[in-house]
Amino acid sequence: RRTSVQDLLRSTELDREVLVKGWVRTRRGNKYVQFIAVNDGSGFNSIQVVANAELFPEEKLKADGVENGAAIAVRGKLVASQGKGQTVEIQAEEITVYGSADPAVYPLQKKGHSLEFLREIAHLRPRTNTFGAVLRIRHAMSFAVHQYFNSHGYFYIHTPIITGSDAEGAGQMFRVTTLSDTKPPLNEAGAVDYSQDFFGKATNLTVSGQLEGEVAAMALGKVYTFGPTFRAENSNTARHLAEFWMIEPEVAFFDLQDNMDLAEDFLKSLVRYALEHCPDDLQFLNDQYDKELLSRLRFVVDNDFQRLTYTEAVEILKGAKQKFEFPVDWGTDLQSEHERYLVEKHFKKPVILTNYPKDIKAFYMKLDEDGRTVRAMDVLFPGIGEIIGGSQREDDLQKLQQRMQEMHVPEEDLWWYLDTRRFGSAPHAGFGLGFERLILFITGMANIRDVIPFPRFPKSAEF
Ligand code: 4AD
Ligand code: MG
Repeated sequence: RRTSVQDLLRSTELDREVLVKGWVRTRRGNKYVQFIAVNDGSGFNSIQVVANAELFPEEKLKADGVENGAAIAVRGKLVASQGKGQTVEIQAEEITVYGSADPAVYPLQKKGHSLEFLREIAHLRPRTNTFGAVLRIRHAMSFAVHQYFNSHGYFYIHTPIITGSDAEGAGQMFRVTTLSDTKPPLNEAGAVDYSQDFFGKATNLTVSGQLEGEVAAMALGKVYTFGPTFRAENSNTARHLAEFWMIEPEVAFFDLQDNMDLAEDFLKSLVRYALEHCPDDLQFLNDQYDKELLSRLRFVVDNDFQRLTYTEAVEILKGAKQKFEFPVDWGTDLQSEHERYLVEKHFKKPVILTNYPKDIKAFYMKLDEDGRTVRAMDVLFPGIGEIIGGSQREDDLQKLQQRMQEMHVPEEDLWWYLDTRRFGSAPHAGFGLGFERLILFITGMANIRDVIPFPRFPKSAEF
């Protein structure tokens, strides 16, 4: 029976027959003995297989294809290891090769590769230490998201991927079209009429599940979504993807204060989960790429976030000694250089900015008494900038309709959304956490394309 490498490494039951299956990470040694590191993905560490020359001369291992990248099965005895860095190893009795990987052409070599190079072979990079670590952490974080909400009484709501509305009112949507062998609808000019595409209706890929989340919150109280979202912004930055995953809680009877408390507690609990459940993978990323990673994660768990208004932040930025590329003036949106100044230079801790000018935020945010700002909040993180965007929602039907008119959001498309304000409207709030931005922060990776297995961005050709 097969045992996972991680289970064997933790095992204290020695001198017994074991079977492992996995991929060769390295093979080294001399004419008396060969050491084969086998990794099966179950965790960061590989197990050392010791192959003595009487049974496995190096020439035979080579001829059989026991090389870096090959898939093999090893039967042998689990014994205490004399070597450094491991407590157990396998004394090989039988090695079977499922599939070899010709060292002359296999793109992953023993030497470390640059992340840029690995991005070009995204189908092979999950086999590297780095991507194994990132993907296991990504898994752990998805699980932690569900665990947090489940244990706090939230319901997971599946919102549509194909939708007729623009949740952000920002026009950054991918249109959904049909490829069918029946005749497509034509417009007056005789060209295909894509506006009819979803069985006679124009649709796009969702930019956010928020509006449907609000519908659910008006019935179930505390809900969240966690799904793929799409943005047709042509952003070639290390912080933007065309397809990313978003987590969006939405809570009835919450105001902006409650929303901030939830965001801070949620983020801290996710970071704490990673520290507790992914120690090997985090230690590797800390040592390999970013010596400050673990201390930064602990700092976020242990310290309060700084909370201030947009107006206060603008005053700080205007008084800053640092010269910015973009000037700051009340009413303009903050650039990432401004956000990072506040977080990394001024406060040196995560920041929650609130009460932004209404004209730089979405139509659904609740208007403040001053009539100029809205109950918005952005959570800014070191090295990342904006990690969360959220708000208390406008629950007054007339004020919402007025904002929609001012911002040219068509009422016909959102009649169902307006009904939530017509029937049993209640104060409520929520936010969106960009899942990849969270993974960037937790892994310390520098580029968002390196924290999702199959990144979609302008001109990404494969998959
Ligand atoms: O600030 P955004 O646009 O807010 C919303 O979509 C709201 N409907 C959320 C809500 O209140 N329910 O996006 C939320 C977060 C951002 O803070 C950022 O972390 C992430 O989503 N994000 C992106 N991540 C990767 N690539 C992109 N192109 C992103 N755009 C936004
Ligand atoms: Mg935002």
